[in-house]
Amino acid sequence: MLRTHTCGELSMQQNGLQVTLCGWVQKSRDLGGMTFIDLRDRYGITQLVFNMDVNEELCKTARNVNREYVIQVKGKVTERINKNLKIPTGEIEVLVENLEILNASETPPFTIEENTDGGDELRMKYRYLDLRRTSVRANLELRHRLASLIRNYLDGEKFIEVETPVLIKSTPEGARDFVVPSRVHNGQFYALPQSPQTFKQLLMVAGFDRYYQIVKCFRDEDLRADRQPEFTQIDCEMSFIEQEDILATFEGLVKHLFKEVKNLDVPQLPRMTFAHAMKNYGNDKPDTRFEMCIQELKSDETQPAFPSGKFKLFDDAEYTAGIVASGCAAYTRKQLDELTDWVKRPQIGAGGLVYIRYNSDGSIKSSIDKFYSSEELLQTAQRMGAQKGDLVLILSGQKQKTQKALSELRLEIGNRLGLRDKNKFSSLWVIDFPLLEWNEEAQRFHAMHHPFTSPKPEDIELLSTQPGKVRANAYDLVINGVEIGGGSIRIFDKTLQSRMFEILGFTPEKAMEQFGFLLNAFQYGAPPHGGLAFGFDRLCSLFGGSDSIRDFIAFPKNNAARDIMIDAPSFIENEQLSELGIRITGH
Ligand code: AMO
Repeated sequence: MLRTHTCGELSMQQNGLQVTLCGWVQKSRDLGGMTFIDLRDRYGITQLVFNMDVNEELCKTARNVNREYVIQVKGKVTERINKNLKIPTGEIEVLVENLEILNASETPPFTIEENTDGGDELRMKYRYLDLRRTSVRANLELRHRLASLIRNYLDGEKFIEVETPVLIKSTPEGARDFVVPSRVHNGQFYALPQSPQTFKQLLMVAGFDRYYQIVKCFRDEDLRADRQPEFTQIDCEMSFIEQEDILATFEGLVKHLFKEVKNLDVPQLPRMTFAHAMKNYGNDKPDTRFEMCIQELKSDETQPAFPSGKFKLFDDAEYTAGIVASGCAAYTRKQLDELTDWVKRPQIGAGGLVYIRYNSDGSIKSSIDKFYSSEELLQTAQRMGAQKGDLVLILSGQKQKTQKALSELRLEIGNRLGLRDKNKFSSLWVIDFPLLEWNEEAQRFHAMHHPFTSPKPEDIELLSTQPGKVRANAYDLVINGVEIGGGSIRIFDKTLQSRMFEILGFTPEKAMEQFGFLLNAFQYGAPPHGGLAFGFDRLCSLFGGSDSIRDFIAFPKNNAARDIMIDAPSFIENEQLSELGIRITGH
């Protein structure tokens, strides 16, 4: 060992001890007679002191040591005069007797401090330097801790980790595949797995009973803060279980993680049906840290509504609904205009925004007061549950689009009102997803989860008459409005699986060509089974209090799916291309 201790462990307990430390120079200060260096490693920072009166030569060498030099020092632990009680090593310093420069360093392109001057792009290019920063390293330490807690928990539940292949077969379902050309079989391609779905099901057929894998998955889809082209799943599957067993097992995992990492006792997770989530929150991953539910305004005795025949836009709209922004009646005209522009942005897609201010003096001011009387507006606002001082915000239009826009507006108002506290956690299961969703473009049904998901037995007969109405035994774990995981009970019967492929538009031949291995396996005693996968990067960012999963991945891709550090993707030599039987035209 080149050191006796790390830079994070010395305290008054070692006062007077002779030690050897290694690390990087965080910064140095030259005070004439004394030179101080903060020495950093993964474990912390220790102050080194060089005294001109004791050793002039050594002090001069220390002055020439720059930021990020790698050094080894030998010296004595001594009590500091000016203690820094903010850090664990702050009561001591090491009076250096010997200094060896193990490696010099160029001046780094950005300061390796918590408040760095490096922009995103620069820090990505020099990710290995960014990873030296305490907060970035702490994120990866959290990731490691979570992985190890998860392994322990699943091990205790008798799950065994099995690795599944990375070079697999491309399938038309789901997102786009990343493909890998084969040299041996020119013109043919492997695909990288979007998830190990079919393999884990085959492991159930093989009798493995309980499988898990912390596994890389690859999807060629548009990137967002919570999406990377390669990401990690905690992928699990169980045999001889029902939906309840899966929810209980993984609720246990969630509780275990919150207890260990946050010291929080999570009560039983509430369940919400997909239909309820869509109606009240406008999406299937509701942020339940706050209420502010969406309320549909329609001519139904049981619901708030505007009288008809007065405002064509509302009369003609497929869907009109709103939310009550608590305490926001004092929003100025400017703020309302700005909010209107916000909902009209293409990402949100609303045509406009209607408001009703229910002022604290009880008066009403609304953008639609030329269509409805104050009494009518007041009545609607009150039926929506608005109190004096609240602001009602209403959107109207095509149902799906408007629901989506309202859901975004609800989150935005939640942000503005400080209701989305990162230190508060609200978890739930969303259940009873539809089995299928209609794809307008392709004019066919797509599997909402994946084609192996089982319909609810009581809905099977709707498969031939109203496939869009069939509900699935599928569930998502949602925490703070983020889809952390999802899964389902699987089809394990060959006939039902073939029927499902048929509904999804596969001919029997195509189904056999794509998924023959699974259909065949189902002929050899497939057990009832089901499972789920958690997005591990998302789980880490949730526990780490960040919106971006990139912060929790050692070497992530940027928003354009590039790794700018290694410069990938990149062109390859013609020779390599021809070996693969590929000719690229156009460059
Ligand atoms: P699903 O497609 O829902 O299910 O994926 C499971 C979880 O993985 C995470 N996730 C992602 N995280 C980061 N970047 C991405 N591009 C990305 N895509 C998905 C999400 C998601 O909830 N095989 C099924 C699981 C099953 O049925 O058992 C599956 O992959 O957190």
